[in-house]
Amino acid sequence: MSELRFPDGFLWGAATASYQIEGAVHEDGRGRSIWDTFAHTPGRTARGDTGDVACDHYHRYREDVALMRELGLGAYRFSVAWPRIQPDGKGPANPAGLDFYQRLVDELLAGGITPCVTLYHWDLPQALEDAGGWRARETAERFAEYATLVHAALADRVPMWITLNEPYCSAFVGYAEGRHAPGAREGHGALAAAHHLLVGHGLALRALREQRRGDERLGLTLNLNHVRPATSDPADVAAAGRAELLYNRVFTDPVLAARWPDGERELWSSITDFSFRRDGDLDLIGQPLDFLGLNNYFPSYAKHAPTADEDPAHRAATDIDMLENPPAELPRTAMGWPVEPDGLGRLLRWLRDEYPGLPPIHITENGSAYPDTPGVDDTARVAYLDSHLRAVRAAIEDGVDVRGYFCWTLMDNFEWAYGYTKRFGLVYVDYPTQRRIPKASFRWYRELIARC
Ligand code: FCB
Repeated sequence: MSELRFPDGFLWGAATASYQIEGAVHEDGRGRSIWDTFAHTPGRTARGDTGDVACDHYHRYREDVALMRELGLGAYRFSVAWPRIQPDGKGPANPAGLDFYQRLVDELLAGGITPCVTLYHWDLPQALEDAGGWRARETAERFAEYATLVHAALADRVPMWITLNEPYCSAFVGYAEGRHAPGAREGHGALAAAHHLLVGHGLALRALREQRRGDERLGLTLNLNHVRPATSDPADVAAAGRAELLYNRVFTDPVLAARWPDGERELWSSITDFSFRRDGDLDLIGQPLDFLGLNNYFPSYAKHAPTADEDPAHRAATDIDMLENPPAELPRTAMGWPVEPDGLGRLLRWLRDEYPGLPPIHITENGSAYPDTPGVDDTARVAYLDSHLRAVRAAIEDGVDVRGYFCWTLMDNFEWAYGYTKRFGLVYVDYPTQRRIPKASFRWYRELIARC
């Protein structure tokens, strides 16, 4: 196979998220987040795992930045834990909380690594959830205040900012399916949450632009899937339309085209009248982005499947009479996710074709979980990364403006409801000793970065 090559200036990164790696949940005045509550609720995570210690990155960040230097990373995407900055979700910034991120940014810059900050990767202060969480518009306002505090402290040294990570998961997995914190199962609540997350993004974007320091770039990270019907049966074709609405267009239409998506009223009028929307919201949400962050792991194959779920609200917001039915011949990762690199290529072309004026794209997450053991080469992960990067390169050659790629993830970590049972890292973490052991994929990625 030909050697993988990328355009000059292509940004090579790796990504993590605060609750998945930091630990130190009681230190330096950090407040409680919805993920602390959720993970400590019996039955919510595999084996009852929590992020209390995680990778202990809060104490070991220097060692972790040293690993990033060894890898040759151009950029590192991490998230700020809102409850470290505002323990109760409002009021002045907690200096000790900010200080951790100051030290991390200093360490990265000293190593020649560009910091990329995600302001919200799911750890909402519990106090805000108690006041309604993302169902409530006030949370969007609180988010913009929090964002300005972090930006004011770090923008002189951080050139890349992401408001939200995957609002789809926050809204629908958190408030409708209940597999993520806060574990709610409400159709209306999930749709209100999706809207208020986007309002929060818009308010934060406007506020950050107003206090811009230099030429820092501001973006939003969406998880999107290329959607196809599982068969040519008209019922499956219709299911694919609903899937595309739910996974993609609820977010991409307002953000990238300043319009509400077609079909939403037909699908959801029985659970909401959309009265959470206000005049002017679309202008706020549809403000131009400096870049779009794209997370993608697998494509979607939608099949019509009248659901057996008895809760009409939950059913209407999530299952929408549809299930995923990827071709049986596709290999699967340890998550059960189908591996089809061309799905990412199709998604990139879909975005380009659907949204004229699309901003430059950074792939802010892509990667795979396998049942790794230390010392055994993770060849499946290398193959996954190689094939997905080839799909990205082909899309670039086709004219899609992709500027960077952040591998998910630097090191094994707390994989949400799966706890520590799923490993996505380039580095193996031996949790009892906190030893970091680079995998074969780490060496492969290092060579690729050095070559490109
Ligand atoms: C994404 C999340 C990230 C990680 C990967 C596997 O949905 O943003 O935190 O869990 O999936």
